[in-house]
Amino acid sequence: MRNNMDQDILKVLYTEEEIHQRVEQMGKELFEQFQGRDPLFVGVLNGCFMFMADLVRASGLKSELEFIGLSSYRDATKSSGVVQITRDMQRDITGRELIIVEDILDSGNTLAFLSKYLMAKGAKSITIATLLDKPSRRQKAITADYVGFVVPDEFVVGYGLDYAQVYRNLPYIGVLKPSVYTK
Ligand code: XMP
Ligand code: MG
Repeated sequence: MRNNMDQDILKVLYTEEEIHQRVEQMGKELFEQFQGRDPLFVGVLNGCFMFMADLVRASGLKSELEFIGLSSYRDATKSSGVVQITRDMQRDITGRELIIVEDILDSGNTLAFLSKYLMAKGAKSITIATLLDKPSRRQKAITADYVGFVVPDEFVVGYGLDYAQVYRNLPYIGVLKPSVYTK
């Protein structure tokens, strides 16, 4: 499909079709684990928006959805390590089984912070579903329960992931040309 972003992409890592297949599988696995229970999906904004939309549909689970806004990156390609809540959840999560939906688990700072925050708010359990996992850069001992793809140590964009808030609407996941962020 026509767009004016392809020119900034060095290479495509996962096509729209590959992402679709993988998310369908993850949804099925979540259904197997959570059918008959009452999970609450918690999407981490902004990066989760596309993955969350596809994953909750693929899961087929009768469940509520929540969103929390977190920020640690600003406009750089590296985590500042300091996580801020930019938008808090709107409901009580006491005693709830949560499924965190995240675009990418990188240093682990964001999910380490979020897991602690949600447990302190009274969550009963936390299951982490991340589309991408970049274990090579981990600083915190965090592992995801559901991982879409393990990615190499490159800055990736698309399907929700941004650079300086742009490229989130690319239907595929790709590596950005370094010339775009060293300009
Ligand atoms: P941490 O390092 O806290 O990162 O595990 C989690 C958050 O940082 C963002 N992030 C990226 N965003 N390309 C992006 O567009 C990347 O390669 C990347 N690595 C980390 C992401 O928003 C995630 O929620
Ligand atoms: Mg992000």
